[in-house]
Amino acid sequence: MIDVHHHCLPDVDDGPRDWDEAVALCRMSAEQGIETIVATPHVLRGRWSNTSRAELQSRLDELQRRIGASPRLLLGSEYFFAHDINEALAGGTIVPLAGSRYVLIEFASNNIPPMVEQPLYRMQLDGWVPLIAHPERNMVFQAKPELLVALMQQGARTQITTASFAGKFGDKAQHAALDWLRRGMVNLVATDAHNTTKRPPIVAEARKIVADATNDAIAEALFVENPRAVIEGRAFVYEPELPYPTEKSPFLSRLKRFLGAS
Ligand SMILES: [Fe+2]
Repeated sequence: MIDVHHHCLPDVDDGPRDWDEAVALCRMSAEQGIETIVATPHVLRGRWSNTSRAELQSRLDELQRRIGASPRLLLGSEYFFAHDINEALAGGTIVPLAGSRYVLIEFASNNIPPMVEQPLYRMQLDGWVPLIAHPERNMVFQAKPELLVALMQQGARTQITTASFAGKFGDKAQHAALDWLRRGMVNLVATDAHNTTKRPPIVAEARKIVADATNDAIAEALFVENPRAVIEGRAFVYEPELPYPTEKSPFLSRLKRFLGAS
């Protein structure tokens, strides 16, 4: 697996607290079959700044030195959505995934702020690709998946969490993950691992569930080939068809009404 969402760096966010824990997490990831990790420390204003790329890179280099050659470590970040994301991108305070054009963006689990579609669309005009982290764990997207589809119709892509398929984030997240997988709303999967105990990297169990629900080729695309496209800065090799028409979509109108009313 190539894991493009992983909190392996010590003492930078809510991932490992120290080097020993970070090394153990990387070793556990290797045992799960993860060949490459993109380290994605949270960037959340007022809580975790993590905006010094040089500091993060030196921490990553030290972790690589301690674990040896495998898994290979690359640098990225997980940006907590704010409406000035385009200014943050232009200012270089967001680390895109492995230096590519893909930007991992998270929302709070209990809401989607109003007017998200314009900044997510505008960043694409500058060549960035918004990759929405774990939408299946967001209660608004769970209740109104058409809002997610509307963002995808405007170019956003989705990252679903492996543990969600295995039911570790509850029934609603599991149902959304499986339902969206069948509907073509999953672009890639990642572990979003934080530690070796409560948030470990889950791969084999999730891969079997995904393959059983679809087929081996799609599982390979979601676990390996599309993530490889991310770190190599290419377009996805597997692009499922979205479930709703792209023109004159009633869901776009509903999105606008919903966001306008929030
Ligand atoms: Fe994360």
